[in-house]
Amino acid sequence: MQKALRSQQWFGKKGKDGFIYRSWMKNQGLPDDEFTGKPVIGICNTFSELTPCNAHFRELAESVKRGVLQAGGIPFEFPVMSLGETLIRPTAMLYRNLASMDVEESIRANPVDGVVLLCGCDKTTPSLVMGACSVDIPAIVVSGGAMLTGKFQGRDIGTSDVWRFADALKSGALAEELLNSAEGSMCRSRGHCAVMGTASSMACMVEALGLTLPGNAAIPAADSRRKTIAQLSGRRIVEMVAEDLVPSQILTRKAFENAIRVNAAIGGSTNFVVHLLAIAGRIGVPLTLEDFDQLSLDVPLVANIQPSGKYFMEDFYYAGGLPALMNVIAPFLHREVITANGKSVAENITDAVSFNQEVIGTLEQPFREQSGIMVLKGNLCASGAVLKPSAATPQLLQHRGPAVVFEHIEDYKARIDDPDLPVTADSILVLKQVGPKGYPGMPEVGNMTLPAKLLAAGVTDMVRISDGRMSGTGFGTVVLHVSPESADGGLLGLVQDGDIIELDAAARKLTLVVEPAEIERRRAVQQPFESPYARGYVQLYVRHVEQSHLGADFDFLRGGSGSTVTRDSH
Ligand code: FES
Ligand code: MG
Repeated sequence: MQKALRSQQWFGKKGKDGFIYRSWMKNQGLPDDEFTGKPVIGICNTFSELTPCNAHFRELAESVKRGVLQAGGIPFEFPVMSLGETLIRPTAMLYRNLASMDVEESIRANPVDGVVLLCGCDKTTPSLVMGACSVDIPAIVVSGGAMLTGKFQGRDIGTSDVWRFADALKSGALAEELLNSAEGSMCRSRGHCAVMGTASSMACMVEALGLTLPGNAAIPAADSRRKTIAQLSGRRIVEMVAEDLVPSQILTRKAFENAIRVNAAIGGSTNFVVHLLAIAGRIGVPLTLEDFDQLSLDVPLVANIQPSGKYFMEDFYYAGGLPALMNVIAPFLHREVITANGKSVAENITDAVSFNQEVIGTLEQPFREQSGIMVLKGNLCASGAVLKPSAATPQLLQHRGPAVVFEHIEDYKARIDDPDLPVTADSILVLKQVGPKGYPGMPEVGNMTLPAKLLAAGVTDMVRISDGRMSGTGFGTVVLHVSPESADGGLLGLVQDGDIIELDAAARKLTLVVEPAEIERRRAVQQPFESPYARGYVQLYVRHVEQSHLGADFDFLRGGSGSTVTRDSH
């Protein structure tokens, strides 16, 4: 027997309450029969002209609506907080949890039977999925798609070139005037970052988790097939409502394991770690930081996409996209798990092949053997830290050197290019106060640009350590997400200039080589961290954010509250 529609708890009511729920909706020109039992589909839209990666979403929503209507549903689009990675200060990550609360409460409070989540720029995907998980009504994700590959002075460029431009500017290899034309050349179409940065990693994550139709991750924003998949997703969500296929049925532990292995094979972003942990916390699947290392260890890097490789998301799509990649790594996947289209992973990927083995390689000939996320432990990161080996310099993965310490981001900016800074290529750059509480919001500053004098001398990478994150488009031998953070009692807060630090990635060790007695002496005189934020959301954030090894969600947002609301509005 089919479950009664949730929306009928509003629109099916008699008397005054039913009048109030229907009458105001009729001001949009809706006839009576729209309210008599059609599945109501919410389209959760992160459209914003201040989120350039999602600025084309009104059009995308129209395609979703067409699909919903074709399948006999009734679509209602609603806005939620949109987070644009590039404009939002001090960092979009500070608002991921806030946006997730907006999504959760908007879905629960309204008469929707299912939702289509329109996601694009980095934080818009995890925040929408986190919110939807805490309600657990049928949900499907439609990603906005990546930009077309940038073209500059005859070569292909994408977001990872931002860091190369920055280095070239510092070393004098690039003139400031040329940057202007590079800007327009890089972001030349609708869509999100064109490399395997966080947005593309998130799009691959939701497809690997089974929350999208197959093929969703890689279709470029400007490709007409992006609209096609939006329309098909609109049709499908109506069926999902009839089947009562909810996120908790799709998001099993096995689905999370698939996502971790896919992220390894694509050379996905380190931000994937904090977002997947947060999603797992919402849906109630046990997942730990160590799982990322253990599950990704033996998966080779199959996709040759920047920042770990050479190509762009557009090339990935033409080479077959994520279904082709998942078919290549099929032996590593749980293929029996169910996805949003009601089919298993096996059914979704079995016919998908790589059309270009330069872009999507094979298990026999992967692009690189070493992939995934390394999880480090040691006195410097008692609860863990992460490192992306495919973006690192192999020789630096085993390194011992003296620390050059920056107490906070302003200190780093003020001194990094000082010609008198006592730093060599062997030094280890340490940045404090960029964790969840300390910054606050754990910004993407962990891939610190190297000192100008070393760049000029031809140095291209150094070991860098912080409690912050780095852009998914970034690269280098960068130890990130140190937990506990410096502002929350972590040993990172006690590191001083000249201290020897040892990174032994093969042994997963990160050690501050300082005598315990000296550490105790420093701890005794350490000033406790005090956040300057006394009111508003940021104060709430600092008080309730969990450490990065747990996903940096709020302690009170773990789990869900279901979809039931018993009290009427009047
Ligand atoms: Fe939006 Fe990169 S800035 S995806
Ligand atoms: Mg980013």
